[in-house]
Order: sequence, then structure tokens, then C-alpha cells
Amino acid sequence: MIATAERPKQKCRVVMRPMQIVDASALLELRNSPSVRENCLQDEREIDVVEHANWLADHLAGIVACGWVIIGEKAGCEPRLLGSVSYGTQTSLGSRAASISVSVDPAVRRTNLATRMVSQTIVDAMEALDVLVVGAVVRTCNTPSLKLFAGLGWEDMGVGVYEGAEVRVFQYPVGVRP
Ligand SMILES: CC(C)(COP(=O)(O)OP(=O)(O)OC[C@H]1O[C@@H](n2cnc3c(N)ncnc32)[C@H](O)[C@@H]1OP(=O)(O)O)[C@@H](O)C(=O)NCCC(=O)NCCS
Repeated sequence: MIATAERPKQKCRVVMRPMQIVDASALLELRNSPSVRENCLQDEREIDVVEHANWLADHLAGIVACGWVIIGEKAGCEPRLLGSVSYGTQTSLGSRAASISVSVDPAVRRTNLATRMVSQTIVDAMEALDVLVVGAVVRTCNTPSLKLFAGLGWEDMGVGVYEGAEVRVFQYPVGVRP
């Protein structure tokens, strides 16, 4: 799925497309930025190039993971990666379940980009990965992300502990148990 739209507030055109190999370095930079790392549940370390290349290869193969990026295109400027959304199969959430991860460049947060990326990719991701549900596991201290999934209408499955952190779990679609 490719979506384009004019975003007058940002004075740039925003394009969403599947991740590509050319996104590798911009994706790694976003992943290693402090505000993304501190909200990672499994691993707050800086990821190195090789580990990241393996992660991206999984997404490009599209069997256990898939992902999209959102790119800002401004007249006279190089296109710039503004955010990403990625889905990976996750057996701890159920036999046909995936988990979601979404990140937006701090400079363009609160402009609805995460909302658009999730709403415009969720159906394609579930189909590509052949899963029935997608879970979002969010630290209870991560207010932007909690509000993102609640605002998208994902079902709140309650609070638990994951990898030593207190988390709230959301689920899409609403009303279906993994
Ligand atoms: C969470 C994150 C992806 C949200 O991206 P975003 O593009 O800013 O989100 P949106 O603009 O679509 O905002 C959606 C809603 O989330 C809430 N929200 C977003 N940022 C917020 C903030 N700083 N404080 C309070 N609420 C916030 C709001 O309810 C917002 O809707 P509103 O602006 O109409 O009130 C972004 O903050 C981010 O990349 N954080 C670091 C990585 C991360 O935590 N990822 C999630 C891990 S599960």
C-alpha cells in the first residue's frame, strides 16, 4: 500500500511505502536515537550495523516481519525518513499473532504520523504475516504510545510485566483473543 497526502502544516509532501534496503541507515539512526531506545522493551542497547541489517532482511523477506516507512519530500531538499512502523510475528502473544513497533522522528512528532502509519498498514501487515491479531506492548510510563493505541481504538488488555518492565498490552482487532 502506498499513500500520499499533502500536509500543509509541515510544508512537505508525505509518502508512505514499504521499507527498502536504501532506508537502512536512516532506520538505524532512528532506532538508536535516545527517545526510541528508552522505550524499547527488549533491548535498549545501541544496535550495530550488522544486527540491524539482519533485522531489515527479515522485513524485506516479509515472512516473519514486514514494515513501512514514512518519507517527507520537500521542494529542493533530499527526501527524509520521518518514521517507521514494523510488525513481527510474536508467538508469546498467541499462535497467529504479531507485535507492532512504531517510531517517529522527534522533530515531527504530534503531527498524526504514527496514527496514519498504523491505520494505513495494519490490514496489509496482518495479511502479509498471516496473523489474526496484533499486539502492542507499551511501557506504562510511555504516555505518547499509550495514547496512540487507545486513540486508535485498540482494545486495552490490561497491565502486566514484560522483560522486567511494567507494560500495558493493546490488541487489534478489538474483541478477539489470541
Ligand atoms: C509514540 C510515537 C510513535 C507517537 O508518534 P506521533 O507521530 O507523535 O503520534 P501522533 O501524532 O499520531 O499522535 C497520536 C496521539 O498520541 C498522543 N500523543 C502523541 N504524543 C504525545 C505526547 N508527547 N504527549 C501526550 N500525548 C501524546 C496524542 O493523544 C495524539 O493525538 P493528539 O495529538 O490528537 O492528541 C512517538 O512519540 C515515538 O516515536 N516515541 C518513541 C518510540 C516509541 O515509544 N514507540 C512506541 C513503542 S510501543
